[in-house]
Amino acid sequence: MVFKVSKVQTTPFEGQKPGTSGLRKKVKVFVQPHYLENFVQSTFNALTPAKVRGATLVVSGDGRYYSKDAIQIIIKMSAANGVRRVWVGQNGLLSTPAVSAVIRERVGADGSKATGSFILTASHNPGGPHEDFGIKYNMENGGPAPESITDKIFENTKTITEYLIAEDLPNVDISSVGVTNFGGPEGPFDVEVFDSASDYVKLMKSIFDFELIRKLLSSPKFTFCYDALHGVAGAYAHRIFVEELGAKESSLLNCVPKEDFGGGHPDPNLTYAKELVNRMGLGKSSEVEPPEFGAAADGDADRNMILGKRFFVTPSDSVAIIAANAVDAIPYFSSGLKGVARSMPTSAALDVVAKNLKLKFFEVPTGWKFFGNLMDAGLCSVCGEESFGTGSDHIREKDGIWAVLAWLSILAYKNKDNLNGNKLVTVEDIVRQHWATYGRHYYTRYDYENVDAGAAKELMAYLVKLQSSLDEINTIVKGARSDVSKVVNADEFEYKDPVDGSISKHQGIRFLFEDGSRLVFRLSGTGSEGATIRLYIEQYEKDSSKTGRDSQEALAPLVEVALKLSKMQEFTGRSAPTVIT
Ligand code: G6P
Ligand code: ZN
Repeated sequence: MVFKVSKVQTTPFEGQKPGTSGLRKKVKVFVQPHYLENFVQSTFNALTPAKVRGATLVVSGDGRYYSKDAIQIIIKMSAANGVRRVWVGQNGLLSTPAVSAVIRERVGADGSKATGSFILTASHNPGGPHEDFGIKYNMENGGPAPESITDKIFENTKTITEYLIAEDLPNVDISSVGVTNFGGPEGPFDVEVFDSASDYVKLMKSIFDFELIRKLLSSPKFTFCYDALHGVAGAYAHRIFVEELGAKESSLLNCVPKEDFGGGHPDPNLTYAKELVNRMGLGKSSEVEPPEFGAAADGDADRNMILGKRFFVTPSDSVAIIAANAVDAIPYFSSGLKGVARSMPTSAALDVVAKNLKLKFFEVPTGWKFFGNLMDAGLCSVCGEESFGTGSDHIREKDGIWAVLAWLSILAYKNKDNLNGNKLVTVEDIVRQHWATYGRHYYTRYDYENVDAGAAKELMAYLVKLQSSLDEINTIVKGARSDVSKVVNADEFEYKDPVDGSISKHQGIRFLFEDGSRLVFRLSGTGSEGATIRLYIEQYEKDSSKTGRDSQEALAPLVEVALKLSKMQEFTGRSAPTVIT
């Protein structure tokens, strides 16, 4: 059939500014007539027709409510805007890291390569008719659109008057693999539905030693558990962990992707991944012996949480431990790491590894896009953030399943001559051994959610002023706790990208102490109501006889200092944080 292109008149919607990870709104906002269409057309216009005509686009996401409708709309608009072909993961499912992999690796039957992608996800936010939907655009390198593009998209949303759509194009069946061909005024247009996992699984197999991991998983001493929290990771977990690596079916929890994530909050942390946390023996005590290893992912499978038996690995430690073991345990890195990077509020555990192994090291603002630039320039192999993100230069997004495979590789490597021995080296052993070698960074994060935006601004303005006077700071510190060392440096973090020279200002206030402790204050860039103040507290302990303490207990003096320094209660009226991680 030959479809027709319609020009539909429209008027702008307010608030279509893409945040750190695209446009996220309640479903009821997205379903308004023209709302999604305006944003998609504004994106096409920002990319310019020259880049859109003839392009190959990937359109898929984490499968949350409204995704299927959104995919059909984007297909019709792609056709009308002269896109040559659209690639859709079966049932519209592709994890964010898999999209990045597909853009970078997949080659179509006719040799075509993708030039970009609409990813339909609101990441770790809940889904369903009353919850969140989201859309973001990723570029040719597989990474999120840079600010220069997202700013243009936003400008376009403010002035849009019409969009193009092939209204008579029939809906494409995205539930089965295959190609559907159409003809339009500008020539052929195809939609190819492909297996969501194949390209990603192939990439993972080229990075890790699957044979070695398989041996670990088949050891009777090793038990394993993976919780996809009903997110899109479920579409990969069975293929990778069960089919490829031989894990038992029963080791998969909540691995059927659901439009509403089973009513849960698909965020892999100690608060929301309750079922896994209990199974791992970290919640209420149970009679069943917990597995040796547990992990969880968020809705779009780019975040990860790593657990051992009755043991939590902080994301800051996780990236440091992966970096320290990568060359030995992961074939992809066998010729060495190009460099490592962490976001500013992430603990300095990675810094110590970088120093010891003489690796290039970068400290970037919060947000994955900063790592992408370093990777494109060949400066960084492994990176991570305290917010449960870990990844490498195999793609340009953080990668939840990659992190699990990295940990399984380290466990398999450490146990390779001992799989039939009495006791395996455990996750906890690896972390404690790491602390003994490099010292431990006790770490905690206090979140003050939904604080009055004005009050949060005032608190930050007060800290900006305070950081310029070390004398004043140290008087407050001393007055609060005599057992805390003194502040030797304080600043407002600013980053100059070593690749493109761009400068990012106002990225948080840092207080650096003589003994290596740090306090960091910043406002969250992803909240949806009011403001969220994040307070990151970290203390370095080199003495290996003192690295086994409870972290909240070890950090109590610094917490006291932080609350006094920031006048937290005075500004916010809050006597306690909403979440502690
Ligand atoms: C998203 C980004 C991360 C960031 C996290 C926390 O997941 O992809 O790069 O670390 O949000 O951001 P926030 O501004 O809320 O602390
Ligand atoms: Zn996510």
